[in-house]
Amino acid sequence: MIQMAPSILSADFTRLGEQVHLVEEAGAEVLHIDVMDGHFVPNLTFGPALVKSIRSQSHMRFDVHLMVQEPEKFIEDFAAAGADHITFHLETTPHVHRVIQQIKEHGITAGIALNPSTPLDGLKYVLADLDMVLLMTVNPGFGGQKFITNVVPKIQVLRHHLEQTQSSCLIEVDGGVNEKTAPIVAKAGAQILVAGSAVFAQPDPKQAIQNIRQAAEL
Ligand code: DX5
Ligand code: ZN
Repeated sequence: MIQMAPSILSADFTRLGEQVHLVEEAGAEVLHIDVMDGHFVPNLTFGPALVKSIRSQSHMRFDVHLMVQEPEKFIEDFAAAGADHITFHLETTPHVHRVIQQIKEHGITAGIALNPSTPLDGLKYVLADLDMVLLMTVNPGFGGQKFITNVVPKIQVLRHHLEQTQSSCLIEVDGGVNEKTAPIVAKAGAQILVAGSAVFAQPDPKQAIQNIRQAAEL
């Protein structure tokens, strides 16, 4: 089963509430919220206040993708704002095990994201504690970038490993996912598909979600 996770990074912020309703009506299971700090990535986006204000508007799972240095400083505020899940980047802290525990202490699920060039090796001693691994298929920072095909074998290797170890950890893929690339990542083993511009930059975002899901499930 594929879960669709539209990313509000590409939404029309002048009517964010409406856009959130729209993707929920289209059947999206997850709302992907990209948090950027201008240090780890060369862009700035949302803080906990935004999460709090859209929380009352939706029953979707709120999937907060932290692209920030020192993620440990922000876990509490995003959990309090209504995050159901928090993913942080392996590249952003030396205290990976501690941050996972910190997220889980709030009764929510935890994930680690890897940049396209980061190998799976760093997950070895924490994978058993993770609910999700996010494999980036673009360099984080912006919507609308081109899918990096080199990451596909990484998805396959992780899927294989999770099956071998009978793990229920989910694989999420983020960056350049559209109707064309969705079948590639789904076949490689991704279960949660993030899509920003392929949803919100389309004339009919609802139809776009359905089309991507259908392409992935074929
Ligand atoms: C990129 C973000 C993505 C972004 C994806 O740094 O993590 O979630 O919204 O955008 P698209 O789907 O347009 O590549
Ligand atoms: Zn993201």
